[in-house]
Amino acid sequence: MSRIVITGASGHYGRLTTDKLIAKGRATDLILITRTPDKLADRTAQGCTVRYGDFDKADTLAEAVKGAETMLLISGTRVGARVVQHKAAIDAAAANGVKHIVYTSFVNVEEANPAIVTIDHRETEALIKASGMAWTMLRDAHYADAMILNAGPGFIASGIWQTSTAGGREAMVWREDCVDCAVAVLTTPGHENKAYPITGPNSETFSEVVAMMNAILGSSIRLVETDDDGMYAMFDAMGIPREPVDDQSVGGIPWNSDDMVSFERAIREGHLDVCTDDVARLTGRKARSVRDLIEAHAEMLRSHVPG
Ligand SMILES: NC(=O)c1ccc[n+]([C@@H]2O[C@H](COP(=O)([O-])OP(=O)(O)OC[C@H]3O[C@@H](n4cnc5c(N)ncnc54)[C@H](OP(=O)(O)O)[C@@H]3O)[C@@H](O)[C@H]2O)c1
Repeated sequence: MSRIVITGASGHYGRLTTDKLIAKGRATDLILITRTPDKLADRTAQGCTVRYGDFDKADTLAEAVKGAETMLLISGTRVGARVVQHKAAIDAAAANGVKHIVYTSFVNVEEANPAIVTIDHRETEALIKASGMAWTMLRDAHYADAMILNAGPGFIASGIWQTSTAGGREAMVWREDCVDCAVAVLTTPGHENKAYPITGPNSETFSEVVAMMNAILGSSIRLVETDDDGMYAMFDAMGIPREPVDDQSVGGIPWNSDDMVSFERAIREGHLDVCTDDVARLTGRKARSVRDLIEAHAEMLRSHVPG
């Protein structure tokens, strides 16, 4: 079977993908790239090949990708500065025998979309398409995990969810559903030169999500509408930098407010109101909903309800 090289293999997305590929019996086909191979010692024990590679040191990537026919390029985390990093990985792949790149992009990469994350994704998609390799774009919607599991406890504890989305809709998706789609694309034929918008099953407003949380959890979250300046003021007060800073996280999350405020605007203006059945088409089962995620983590979320 052909070998698959995975960048970002030590991260949340990469670990889950690796687990699922190993469960399908593909351990020895996997080449996992990391800046710190010790972090993936468990993978070596499972039969995977672990190699040193750094997006910021292009010359490390040629050796790292050798032997692979497919690359899962999991986008980097330095929003606004990832294109150079991705280009290094794409160039190394094209020059060293990789035939097909599968890339984790974003749900709507059209130029009109003001979400800052789309700039890097749009440029990376163009580089991949120009590389001569076959490609598959996994255009993931906003992760429900980020809003419900990461931000949710703060909303529940404070009783306030502040937003400038003004009733805009998005079909948030489970990260695990995105990973299941990636695994399907990596292990079944026929995905060359296709782009899949991978979304949840329902396009919802934050107000609808708040109502769902309150009903399921017994919380008293109030959605407070503000404008983008109000969002910046809130993030500034939380100590979140405006621009991305490597290795800085606030409360365990690598936030930056330019990115997040642009996201609110994208939702407000309807750019994230995309809802497809691609999870079902790729995995053979329905996409899980925001409600499903709240219910699946109800005990953890309820522990943040005051009193
Ligand atoms: N659609 C959404 O709502 C959404 C939400 C969150 C994330 N995402 C996407 O998913 C991607 C992965 O997220 P995640 O949660 O898995 O990230 P994560 O857990 O923070 O992991 C980041 C990964 O990037 C690797 N990395 C960082 N800098 C690198 C460099 N210079 N060279 C090589 N590798 C480097 C790290 O590898 P080592 O440290 O081992 O080198 C690590 O494996 C994000 O970048 C983003 O594009 C999408």
